[in-house]
Amino acid sequence: MYLPTELPHCVLRPWRAEDKPALLWYANNRKVWRNLTGMFPHPYAEADADRWLAVAASSDASIYLAIEARGQAAGSISVIADENTGQHTGQIGYWLGEPLWGQGIATASVRSLAAYALARPRFERLEAQVLAWNPPSMRVLEKAGFTREGVLRQNVFKDGDLIDSVMYARVRNA
Ligand SMILES: CC(C)(COP(=O)(O)OP(=O)(O)OC[C@H]1O[C@@H](n2cnc3c(N)ncnc32)[C@H](O)[C@@H]1OP(=O)(O)O)[C@@H](O)C(=O)NCCC(=O)NCCS
Repeated sequence: MYLPTELPHCVLRPWRAEDKPALLWYANNRKVWRNLTGMFPHPYAEADADRWLAVAASSDASIYLAIEARGQAAGSISVIADENTGQHTGQIGYWLGEPLWGQGIATASVRSLAAYALARPRFERLEAQVLAWNPPSMRVLEKAGFTREGVLRQNVFKDGDLIDSVMYARVRNA
């Protein structure tokens, strides 16, 4: 799958084995790790990159894409499919290499993947939980049509702190 974005130098496309050096370079960053929930490791080692490239190659209902900026894989964007009663919900997650921050790349990427995912029968709702100390990501989601639904108080323990997260979602018919 290859998804264009509104930025001519930025596309979303499947991860490739040859992306490993760029993945290691950009992912091994505490400022990226600090803003992500889940299993994203720090430091980010070769084995972590191998594991990620294998996950990203799996063919289930989830969507795993590299953010390619100026010809190089510089970040990641995914929609993870929920199961059971949440089967029409997808968890959207993304990160971008720090040297590329502030150029609208995450916004363009979220807009593109959200439009694509919500046009598929599987996804009626996309959601993201943003850590309270991450206003740039909240801004990205707002610019991509997501709505702030509420605060989940003290529901994340990250980097030694118990903090709030903010639920953002975009639904197909709204
Ligand atoms: C969050 C992240 C994806 C943003 O990527 P990006 O390409 O720099 O984002 P964009 O350039 O598209 O947009 C960033 C917006 O945040 C704004 N912003 C930056 N710092 C800000 C701050 N301290 N407070 C409020 N807004 C801020 C920018 O001004 C911009 O908004 P604008 O276009 O209205 O001016 C990137 O910083 C990142 O990968 N961070 C680490 C991982 C992460 O946080 N992932 C998301 C987890 S929910």
